[in-house]
Amino acid sequence: MSVRLHINIDHVATVRNARGTKYPDPLYAAHVCEAAGADGITAHLREDRRHIRDDDVERLRASITSHFNLECAATDEMRAIAERVVPDTVTLVPERRQERTTEGGLDVAGQRQAVETFIAMCKRVGIRASLFIAPDDVSVQLSHALGADQIELHTGEYCHAFEPGKAAQRDKELARLVRATELARSLGLEVAAGHGLTRHNVGPVVAIPGVAEVNIGHSVIADAVFLGLSEAVQKLRAAIERHASRA
Ligand code: PXP
Repeated sequence: MSVRLHINIDHVATVRNARGTKYPDPLYAAHVCEAAGADGITAHLREDRRHIRDDDVERLRASITSHFNLECAATDEMRAIAERVVPDTVTLVPERRQERTTEGGLDVAGQRQAVETFIAMCKRVGIRASLFIAPDDVSVQLSHALGADQIELHTGEYCHAFEPGKAAQRDKELARLVRATELARSLGLEVAAGHGLTRHNVGPVVAIPGVAEVNIGHSVIADAVFLGLSEAVQKLRAAIERHASRA
């Protein structure tokens, strides 16, 4: 089994919403990604609905045949939507309205009550619960203590350091990801990774033994502008296959 590739299609909806049209349709994008070899589709329903909207979530649930991973904040509103839609996985993410994208991992300790309530609902209706966290021991241990099935490690710091002249910083960030993965696996948690990954920097992440899944959005939609979505997904898949740990 290689590393699962989930494509985040939010930015297809960003383009659609920029003109208030019905196209490009994120659902069509999801089908293209599946046909091109994606193992799953990820969509983030933000509180401000800036890209994915409620009816996109319903349509994705009704028609994709791969894995559906819904990202959302641990709010009462999102819990009610997830309970009704029943995606395969819910990934709880932090959310601030002013941010451009999801910056930083979930404050699991600060949101403990809301996260616990969300995970309890997931267990009741049969949704896998994943927490998007920074690669640190406390967040991993707390995710386990609260009953998460999976963690998704925030790779933003690693990706920022993936530039010429920053090798030492990159290695340090990679070491944090390795350590967090080892700890999570020792506790029985599944491990995913995401944020800022591209076909150029994904190799060292999927080579980490224990990383089972990556969620990638912005870079693949950017590649699709020049290559088309199908080829962009295939190139990403090929990059993953070249490096993936089979551990
Ligand atoms: N994983 C999570 C939990 C995210 O919130 C995001 C961004 O929405 C991604 C993965 C994808 O990040 P990117 O768009 O930088 O590939």
